[in-house]
Amino acid sequence: MRITQHPILGKRDKQQYVKIICDGQPIEAIAGEPIAAALMAAGKTIFRYTRKKKDPRGVFCAIGQCTECMMTVDGIPNVRTCITPVQDGMNVQTQHGLGQVKANP
Ligand code: FES
Repeated sequence: MRITQHPILGKRDKQQYVKIICDGQPIEAIAGEPIAAALMAAGKTIFRYTRKKKDPRGVFCAIGQCTECMMTVDGIPNVRTCITPVQDGMNVQTQHGLGQVKANP
């Protein structure tokens, strides 16, 4: 869900949209917005699972301080999605535990 009419900022003007892939599903995002904002607008609230208890985690501080929103982005684990802007074609995955770095062949 997105705010389309704000009492102070006014009506949303033309936005440029990009597409990202999250866990295999295409998601439309506004160019330059944080990954977490795009995912929450699409209804996703669980971004990772903790290593020991496998507890779900999502956005908490939204300013890059808590690391609760970490996901694997384009194969790189532990990316704080609340402060990382979307880029067209980005591949975002829910992270399990500490995540894994894929070795180059
Ligand atoms: S929500 Fe706290 S670092 Fe992203």
